[in-house]
Amino acid sequence: MTPLPTTLTFARSSAFTHQKGFTPVTPTLQGNTCVVGLQWGDEGKGKIVDFLTEHADVVVRYCGGANAGHTVRIGGEKYATHLLPVGVFRPGVMNIIGNGVVLDPEVLLKEIDELAARGLAVTPQNLRISYKTHLVMPYHKQEDAARESSAEGGAIGTTRRGIGPTYADKMQRATAVRVADLLHEENLKQKIGRIVNERNKVLQCLYDAPPLEWRQIFETYRDFGRRLAPFVDDTGHLLIEYARSGKRIVFEGAHAVLLDVDHGTYPYVTSSSCSALGLYTGSGVPPQTVQNFYGIMKAYSTRVGGGPFPTEQDNDIGNYIRERGNEYGTTTRRPRRCGWLDAMAVKYSVDLCGITHVALTLIDVLSGLDHVQICTGYKHNGQRLDYFRADMDVLAEVEPIYETLPGWRGNISAARRFEDLPKEAQQYVKRVEVLIGAPVKMVSVGPERTATIMR
Ligand code: GDP
Ligand code: IMO
Ligand code: MG
Repeated sequence: MTPLPTTLTFARSSAFTHQKGFTPVTPTLQGNTCVVGLQWGDEGKGKIVDFLTEHADVVVRYCGGANAGHTVRIGGEKYATHLLPVGVFRPGVMNIIGNGVVLDPEVLLKEIDELAARGLAVTPQNLRISYKTHLVMPYHKQEDAARESSAEGGAIGTTRRGIGPTYADKMQRATAVRVADLLHEENLKQKIGRIVNERNKVLQCLYDAPPLEWRQIFETYRDFGRRLAPFVDDTGHLLIEYARSGKRIVFEGAHAVLLDVDHGTYPYVTSSSCSALGLYTGSGVPPQTVQNFYGIMKAYSTRVGGGPFPTEQDNDIGNYIRERGNEYGTTTRRPRRCGWLDAMAVKYSVDLCGITHVALTLIDVLSGLDHVQICTGYKHNGQRLDYFRADMDVLAEVEPIYETLPGWRGNISAARRFEDLPKEAQQYVKRVEVLIGAPVKMVSVGPERTATIMR
């Protein structure tokens, strides 16, 4: 077995972070921070985590897998990560892939190689992976795709990255493979042989799929394991030590509250606990570790895949938003469904996660419209419903009630102070704050790291 790395060096010590004259990102942002999506994903979490990491020591992914796609733009360069925490773009920051993630080693190694080709080194000095993390195997991806394509119906519109089947095996236990298994090659061989044999029967019987060759899978994963071994660590222990020694930690939520397996719009959700509530089990820290809960929301709504979406605009408005916001999936390139802001859906997420700060992103996309609309409640069975119910039966039937606000014009991406925004855009932000019941501390006016307004 490869010994776990034990030495931890920080190019950026907390002394640096807290040095004299250091201005925190916001005066109130002391302590550790969880960043979480408040809608159906793609709110700009990658951009905001990268921004907040200017003054952080550690970034942690705690849920999901390569179904996520987080974009960061730095000095005109565009990067998209699926598994790597976006702290890899900040020298001296330690990145952690927590136990709550499902890891596709092929995707991770490709990401590492692609960044290396662009001059960014990802090594055990800036990345550690929990030995408890579960692995996405080829049959998980095969099953995900087969189920989605099945004539029997029941498709969710998944990313086909094998996410659901991997989490199902995690709960099943006997058929799971974890990062720790990569460190024991003989056991790995036995395990993969047994599981693939069983899985072939299921895949053949249910989906008439050709059998997989267990030895080839074993050899591929053995080689992945040899490359990944130096990164494997007891990351829960590390994080508790970091927190104790005053390192600043940012937890990088993936997906969003409305895609959470318990609290989202089930069954049209992903298979992980991707609200802020999932960070504790997904990284192995106690609740007192986190003081700030940064909710990220777009100025409108989008969704990829199936499921209810009360404010969807399958019309010129939706097309306007999609083209201006480049609303095409970061992972699958699928066109995203677009619509007006559903403030009640965001309020539901704010309340569930105890959001203390909000970043409102992509507000520049709404420029050029005569009017903008916000959903402030619903009509259901002739009654007014003034809160969001993540209940398919209700959501499929509700009719949004809208409030109309004046629009604004022009390119607002150069604004760096709130007062630089057109007064109608300022009014929009202030109205959103009241409707969702949380303070908008940051407004994002463009994809670049610097296109950000602090309030
Ligand atoms: P994530 O999954 O939440 O990290 O979001 P994605 O990266 O999937 O999608 C957000 C997209 O919006 C990316 O292409 C970002 O570069 C871009 N983006 C982020 N913030 C802004 C913004 O304020 N304005 C504009 N126009 N684009 C933004
Ligand atoms: P980020 O982190 C948007 C959606 C998929 C699908 C459903 C289930 O970039 O915001 P899965 O492959 O997870 O089983 O698919 O969840 N989905 C996302 N949509 N952004 C994401 O992540 C998503 N992760 C999953 O489109 O509808
Ligand atoms: Mg995304």
